[in-house]
Amino acid sequence: MVNTKVVLSGWQIDNPVIPAAGTFGYGIEFKDFYDINILGTFSLKGTTKDPRFGSPTPRIADTSMGMINSIGLQNPGINVLINEELPQLKNFFRKKVIVNISGFSIDEYVYCSKLIDKEEQVGIIEVNASCPNLECGGKPFGFEIESIKELTKAVKEVTIKPVYIKLNPNITDIVSIAKAAEESGADGITLINAITGMRIDLITGKPVLASIMGGVSGPAIFPIALRMVYQVSRAVKIPVIGIGGVSTAEDVIEMMYAGATAVQVGSANLKNPYVCKEIIENLPEVMDRYGIKDLNDIIGKA
Ligand code: SIN
Repeated sequence: MVNTKVVLSGWQIDNPVIPAAGTFGYGIEFKDFYDINILGTFSLKGTTKDPRFGSPTPRIADTSMGMINSIGLQNPGINVLINEELPQLKNFFRKKVIVNISGFSIDEYVYCSKLIDKEEQVGIIEVNASCPNLECGGKPFGFEIESIKELTKAVKEVTIKPVYIKLNPNITDIVSIAKAAEESGADGITLINAITGMRIDLITGKPVLASIMGGVSGPAIFPIALRMVYQVSRAVKIPVIGIGGVSTAEDVIEMMYAGATAVQVGSANLKNPYVCKEIIENLPEVMDRYGIKDLNDIIGKA
């Protein structure tokens, strides 16, 4: 019998497998595929203060070993999330969830955080300081130490829930940004968001995405994410949630060796809606294969 339970800021979850924001909707989209209560938890589709229509189409394209997206934070806004999605979720998900928030000003993040703070179903507020798409919220916050500090402090002031800052990998020194978040009171770090890229259609000779650039995700970015999780987890004392190209139980274990306490699964959910179920089911066998009795024993041991 192996132990897959891990703890994020005092919250024990049954296993470290967490579908990432924007790849699992509000859970309802996946509940008929399998009982999603087997998940550690999941991060709800990212919310902003106001509803957003998102980027013009085309918004997604294939890449080798992954995909590229510029969704532009399409979502119905925080009030719909609180008044409709969370009450509906209660009917089929018994655990607490992560709410991912974005904004175009610190006031917008604060507005959302204040409202979420009152929601008993929310275990962690994940502050998206990392949307890779140019017109999305977060760009200035994820790029500059001073703005990460200001954002983290402002959110921490209005909530008693653990606050995890989701970082942008499109910078030279991710460690300094992570440390700035920790010094400003962040309870954890989620990394990495997608890496900015683009594709060109050879028939038209024009960019495939209407927004020209988007975020590259999928297995192609796994080694980069792993490297950043390794670097950041050594520099901070708060938990790190690793994300970036994870699609197997082996990837989860590798991320945890690198320093992740829990692991988010992103675009793999879009390719195979059962992927998180498969990872959770395979985890004990893969742990056995590598002589791991307790996942907590391998965190950061690479
Ligand atoms: C998007 O909505 O364009 C992506 C959001 C994100 O990656 O943070």
